Amino acid sequence: MRVLFVCLGNICRSPTAEGVLRHQLQAAGLADQVQVASAGTGDWHVGKAPDGRTLKAALARGYDLSEQRAQQVKVGHFAEFDLVLAMDQSNLRDLRALRPHAAIGELDLFLRRYGSALDEVPDPYYGGADGFEQVLDLIEAACQALVVEIKGRL
Ligand code: 4NP
Repeated sequence: MRVLFVCLGNICRSPTAEGVLRHQLQAAGLADQVQVASAGTGDWHVGKAPDGRTLKAALARGYDLSEQRAQQVKVGHFAEFDLVLAMDQSNLRDLRALRPHAAIGELDLFLRRYGSALDEVPDPYYGGADGFEQVLDLIEAACQALVVEIKGRL
């Protein structure tokens, strides 16, 4: 199974989701069976490591995101991934516009699919440190539900 997380810049929310899901899959003994990646709808940060604030907040919870490099989402990703998960409604709209009609992989809003109280992971880029903690809280909880779904699908 292959899962792609998508946000706007691919330097804050989706790299966090990639790192958290990898970690949880490792703990569940499923890392070999699931491919996890992330991308952004925008191209401003392509090739760059995650935002320093994202790296710091994630590392404090045991997630090392330093090897990740930003990429822009491409139409071909819809053939490469079984599940494409958008961080907010704007990302979802952009992905719907890009997605080929014949695409087999599913596209969904990450938090809504996994029963979070919020539908969107708020963009932390222009805010304070609290925002990065909230991103981690929301993503950790939703990834637990995603791992349950993955176990059922494997
Ligand atoms: P992300 O956050 O979509 O969670 O990676 C952002 C990163 C960069 C920008 C906006 C949001 N930006 O405008 O450069």
